[in-house]
Amino acid sequence: MQREPAPIGKLVVVGLGLIGSSLALAARQRGLAGEVIGVSRRSSTLDLALQQGVIDRVASSLTALAAELQRGDVVVIGVPTLTVPAVLDECAAQLDSAVTITDVASVKGSVVAAACASYGAAPPQLVPGHPIAGSEKSGVNAADGGLFVGHRVILTPHADSGADHLARVQALWQGCGAMVTEMSVADHDEILAATSHLPHFLAFSLVDTLAGLRANREIFRYAAGGFRDFTRIAASDPVMWRDIALANRSAVLQVLDQLTADFARLRGAIDAGDGSYLLDLFTRAQSARQHFGQLLEQGLDSDTMSAKPLTFRLSPGGSAVGTIRVPGDKSISHRSIMLGALAEGMTEVTGFLEGEDSIATLRAFRAMGVQIEGPQQGRVVVHGVGLHGLKAPSAPLDVGNAGTGMRLLAGVLAGQPFDSVLVGDASLSGRPMGRVADPLAEMGAVIATEAGGRPPLRITGGQMLKPLNYTMPMASAQVKSCLLLAGLYCEGETSVVEPAPTRDHTERMLRGFGYPVVSEQLGGGVTRVSLRGGGTLRGGRIDVPADISSAAFFMVAAAITPDSDITLQHIGINPTRIGVLNILRAMGADITLSNEAEVGGEPVADIRVRYAPLRGIAIDEAQVPLAIDEFPVLFVAAACAEGETVLTGAHELRVKESDRIQAMADGLQILGVAATPTADGIRIVGGAIGGGRVASCHDHRIAMAFAIASLRASSEIVIDDCNNVATSFPTFAELALQVGIKLSVE
Ligand code: S3P
Repeated sequence: MQREPAPIGKLVVVGLGLIGSSLALAARQRGLAGEVIGVSRRSSTLDLALQQGVIDRVASSLTALAAELQRGDVVVIGVPTLTVPAVLDECAAQLDSAVTITDVASVKGSVVAAACASYGAAPPQLVPGHPIAGSEKSGVNAADGGLFVGHRVILTPHADSGADHLARVQALWQGCGAMVTEMSVADHDEILAATSHLPHFLAFSLVDTLAGLRANREIFRYAAGGFRDFTRIAASDPVMWRDIALANRSAVLQVLDQLTADFARLRGAIDAGDGSYLLDLFTRAQSARQHFGQLLEQGLDSDTMSAKPLTFRLSPGGSAVGTIRVPGDKSISHRSIMLGALAEGMTEVTGFLEGEDSIATLRAFRAMGVQIEGPQQGRVVVHGVGLHGLKAPSAPLDVGNAGTGMRLLAGVLAGQPFDSVLVGDASLSGRPMGRVADPLAEMGAVIATEAGGRPPLRITGGQMLKPLNYTMPMASAQVKSCLLLAGLYCEGETSVVEPAPTRDHTERMLRGFGYPVVSEQLGGGVTRVSLRGGGTLRGGRIDVPADISSAAFFMVAAAITPDSDITLQHIGINPTRIGVLNILRAMGADITLSNEAEVGGEPVADIRVRYAPLRGIAIDEAQVPLAIDEFPVLFVAAACAEGETVLTGAHELRVKESDRIQAMADGLQILGVAATPTADGIRIVGGAIGGGRVASCHDHRIAMAFAIASLRASSEIVIDDCNNVATSFPTFAELALQVGIKLSVE
């Protein structure tokens, strides 16, 4: 069999340290070059490299090889950073200008400067590079052909780097399994100073300090986890790190000065016994580290900071059996942070939803100076700052995918003395905010939106808000809550009339925090909610029930799957949220409640659902606001029911995280279900469900609804872009597997 011609003729690696020898080995193992030649001043290194199969052949110097190198050959400079100029001098004097030159030094500014010095100007054949890989080990003995797999290699081509040279260096690294990115020399040096160089200097410095203490033997004997984790990199090559410190002097000094100043403040706080400063700093750092950890776990692309798209693949024939507890209620979790922050004293939250939406709210309040501990296994402690204690955020507040976050925060921010900006992700940026911005403007708030009332919201603080009596044109708990929160900052009574009952968590939690709120029934399902501004909220304990909106997926799973039996524990059954129970029961579902109790002003129960044949119904419009988030999965129930199900009066579904009427109709049709969208609802005729590839439309609830459909599908269902499931239900896939749904995440 004939071998593919190697893309590179001769690969010459000058300097066989860890990186150089690992690259040589990878190139040999993967057949990336016709021949791999090692150059080192030390003959012992060359002997070892040959012996260990790292290289094909040795050379004592580049000069000795220069005559045989031509276009298609690549010289990799793998020597310590401060030795690079000498090798570049040799290149300039000896190498043909067609030979590609690259390097692996951790600092790029000094390499380009050295090339300019050797050549007069950086030559087209030079493509500086830096593999972000390594270990504290050094030398040929540590050579690892897999070292670069999945790691990043940053190339910093200069203005005159030749395209063919760049392509060859890219191909070399990609061939080693690395991910190649490009950036400017200055960006590279600044970023690496902060993320790599400084941590190494800190580790060296800490170990040195401890080693210098008199009792160092004893100290090292007792130095366990923390010390070991933090100082692993202090075992790195001293010459290399001396070179990096000197070569990247200005970028390193800048970040070192910043850290020194922060360190002095930390020292001051410890000296002064300022526990609050310490808790604030540690909590902020803990949250940033957890966020970073999650990014790493999700395999984020560090260039774009956007997650790799997740795909759900579902095989038919799964079951729905077991007892599970779904995560905490999203609506209540958002409000626990907001009201906890605006309260006097401490609020301890348990059962908090550790989903992206509620975490975004938590971060927003941290950014306004509120100390918040956690979340840790659903426990969060909010150190309230009172209604007037928020501080101006230094950057726009990013609430991610969360409509609740943005609309409720708009109400809070309208009443602050400082300016603020609210931004969200692509889905949220397309959603209507005029429904809160307009009535807030009537109260005297100054809020600029993008065209069509879309985010970002730019809020000018320092306004005197006036109370408002507002009749909402739509039944929206977010609008109601927004105006009530703004009402806290008005003198006098603010009232909101809702055309139909919507979730009342804000009212319940305000009352739980000792703030009077009046709800009056005006007849015909119309409610008027009012409060007077200027009061005080008192922090307390909040036990967040499990989210009925998340439970709904498993309720439907059991309702449509023969032989199923699922119990969902500790679910919030607030009467303004139980539309899904009412609708499923009207369709014939077998649902029983037990362990009914009240926790912190919210009713909870265990919900058991067993299979029973469903029938199509005309859904009572009064149930729409009470089941507003559960329709995607209710449509799946309808697809499994006998006869036709008709939904009307649900226009609001068109402005959720996606247009949920269209998204579900499109997906159901792909699966072979007769689903016809209408202006304010849908008609679905129950029948067989096939298989196919459906879009989640970046909407968590659409993704999860189609996953449930697999229980009655005849073949595989693939759902694209399921990342947003983490906004409300980060453990969905885990729990789905637990009850027997055949889900794999790709
Ligand atoms: C929510 C209210 C509802 C709901 C959303 C959460 C809340 O939105 O769809 O998921 O927490 O107040 P609307 O107020 O737009 O109906």
